[in-house]
Amino acid sequence: MSIEIRRPVTPKEWENYYDMRYNVLRKPLNQPLGSERNDGDLSGRHFALYDNQILRAIARLDSAGEGISQVRFVAVHPDSQGKGYGRLIMEAVEGSSIKSGNRKMILHARDYALDFYVRLGYNKIEKSYKLYDVLQHYLMEKIY
Ligand SMILES: CC(C)(COP(=O)(O)OP(=O)(O)OC[C@H]1O[C@@H](n2cnc3c(N)ncnc32)[C@H](O)[C@@H]1OP(=O)(O)O)[C@@H](O)C(=O)NCCC(=O)NCCS
Repeated sequence: MSIEIRRPVTPKEWENYYDMRYNVLRKPLNQPLGSERNDGDLSGRHFALYDNQILRAIARLDSAGEGISQVRFVAVHPDSQGKGYGRLIMEAVEGSSIKSGNRKMILHARDYALDFYVRLGYNKIEKSYKLYDVLQHYLMEKIY
C-alpha cells in the first residue's frame, strides 16, 4: 500500500473526486448529477485518499463555529469498503481539525454508517434530519 491523503489537484482528480461523491452518496438515492455539490465546496477543505495513485476515499472538512469542525461527504469506493480506508481518511480529517486548533468534530451520520463512527470514537447526540425524506441522519460528536 502506498497511501497519500491530500487535496485533489488536476482537473481529472477533481472530476474523479466529485464522481465518487455522486456515485456513492447521491446516485443510490436517485438524485440528479449536481446534487453532490454545494456552496460549502468553495470554503471547505477537501481530502482524497489515493492508494497507489487510485482514488479510494473522500471527505470534506468544514468549519462549524468557534472551535468546532464538521466533516461531510465521507465516502469510500464500494469495491474498497471495509479495508480501513474510511478510518484512514477520518484520521487525516481529524488531524487537520486539531492542527487548526479546534477541539470538537461534529457530523451527521447516515443510519447505516452510525456504527462506523462509533468505532472511531464518536458519540450519538440526537436524531437529526431525514435526507430527501428517506434517509435518517444522526448528529454525532467527538471531543479531542
Ligand atoms: C461508512 C464508510 C465511510 C466506512 O468506510 P470503510 O472504509 O468501509 O470502513 P473501515 O474499513 O475504515 O472501517 C473502520 C471500522 O469501522 C467498522 N465499520 C465500517 N463500516 C461499518 C458499518 N457500516 N457499520 C458498522 N461498522 C462499520 C469496521 O468494521 C472497522 O472496525 P475495526 O476498526 O474495529 O475493525 C464506507 O463504508 C462508505 O463510504 N459507505 C457508503 C457511504 C456512507 O455511508 N458514507 C458515510 C455517510 S455519513
